[in-house]
Amino acid sequence: MTTNTEYVRIFDTTLRDGEQSPGCSMTPQQKVVMARALAELGVDIIETGFPASSQSDREATAQIARELRETTLAVLSRCLPGDIEASARSLEGAAKPRIHVFLSTSPLHREHKLRMSKAEVIDSIGKHVALARSFVDDVEFSTEDGTRTEEDFLHEAVGVAIAAGATTINVPDTLGYTTPKEIRGLFQRLIANVPGAKDVIFSAHCHNDLGLAVANSLAAMEGGARQIECTINGIGERAGNAALEELAMALKVRNAFYNIDSRIDSRRLVPTSKLLQRLIGMPVQHNKAIVGENAFAHESGIHQHGMLRNRSTYEIMNPSDVGWPDSKMVLGRHSGRAAVGHRLRALGYTLEDEQLDQVFEQFKALCEQQRTVDDDDLERLMTGGVTGQGYRLSSMTVSDRGQRASAQVELSDPDGRKLTESALGDGPVDALFAALSAATGVRLSLESYSVHSVGLGADARGEASLSVHHEGSEYVGSGTSRDIIEASALAWLEIANRILRSRQGSTSGKSAVA
Ligand code: KIV
Ligand code: ZN
Repeated sequence: MTTNTEYVRIFDTTLRDGEQSPGCSMTPQQKVVMARALAELGVDIIETGFPASSQSDREATAQIARELRETTLAVLSRCLPGDIEASARSLEGAAKPRIHVFLSTSPLHREHKLRMSKAEVIDSIGKHVALARSFVDDVEFSTEDGTRTEEDFLHEAVGVAIAAGATTINVPDTLGYTTPKEIRGLFQRLIANVPGAKDVIFSAHCHNDLGLAVANSLAAMEGGARQIECTINGIGERAGNAALEELAMALKVRNAFYNIDSRIDSRRLVPTSKLLQRLIGMPVQHNKAIVGENAFAHESGIHQHGMLRNRSTYEIMNPSDVGWPDSKMVLGRHSGRAAVGHRLRALGYTLEDEQLDQVFEQFKALCEQQRTVDDDDLERLMTGGVTGQGYRLSSMTVSDRGQRASAQVELSDPDGRKLTESALGDGPVDALFAALSAATGVRLSLESYSVHSVGLGADARGEASLSVHHEGSEYVGSGTSRDIIEASALAWLEIANRILRSRQGSTSGKSAVA
């Protein structure tokens, strides 16, 4: 941290704005776990919830307040005495309590939501900010839908909140409507013209309806905001809030441009993101900046070649700076000979040009059968094993009619023998995986399972993707079929066959080098 003007406070609202969005709710215990991770990440303020709205938020806030003594804890309140009193009570044990009061200021909200005149809005802001100040010294006031408010009225509302004792003024872009240029100017004019503005911290809270939340937050900072409200993985109402990990890395990677620091420990970004994904069961998309599986993955030959010469050719950050172990060189259909040779050298195989040509041909053939080629597959190529063989699905039937689902699978084993197994489960997929497990003797504990459709109309197919942790390694597999249950079986078998091949590889050693 440097001086006030060069330091931006990170206000994390994963547990409030994030948690109130569909599919993201958390139990008090989950909130406590997440709050610990946020404190470790280095956020300045954690918004723990909306105490007046639920017992669960009151419980979570009280428990987090008992544990986290260094981080400011904020809770949300409408401009209602009951809300503010509930907030004050739930923060009673907190070392650094903040009451966050909000009221809509835009004409649309005044007319259709609040049914209040401008004068009534101004009166309510003054009264309720002062009430919050009677409980705590740290009060934030938010002008909900601030970016769609008449600018002169916004100035008046902010001035009243400051005069009543607000110490932070948050101007939310509630609908994700503004643009970087617009919000930069808005903050500049507020800070230059509202009486008392220089004595408070201005804050931006941007939603992502147009995909501009991070850009708008950075622009607000250029306009003078020194608090940014954001969430892990960008979760939040509708299209979400500004993603904390993206903001933090924009400030770090482009520090010479912004010249503003945050206190975020960037190496905790990926672990914190993964924790949230697990807690709420909502994975991020693979190409999500910073924390997505592909954020540091390279498959195309041209990129891999560049990366092998100098990683700065295709990476602007070091993956370990954000908590990934390393960049990923994914070997697949788009990879070139140089990347295959490089990976083989890392596995201990130094090949003459001609040998590498041969192996590369086999590699290409293998890529026609499977999407990616991992180290075990390369080992099999080098030791003369026939990759792509293993257990194969001959047929399957799944039924979900009784108390429990049942599945029967018929497989051919690596030697071509037929085997049939059946099992029960808590649903069709659970029963199917249990039957596959019984047939192959491989037990997998799933990290993630997702299905989606690929293609359109008559060509549409289901693709299932699985990832598992097995004996310290992570395996991913995918399968495609017109039937998503069958696609799931194919994905499961891809992983099981990889595990079985790696067991064989570890007993056969590297003697039969091509
Ligand atoms: O988006 C918004 O306006 C909010 C406020 C309640 C801060 O979340
Ligand atoms: Zn919001």
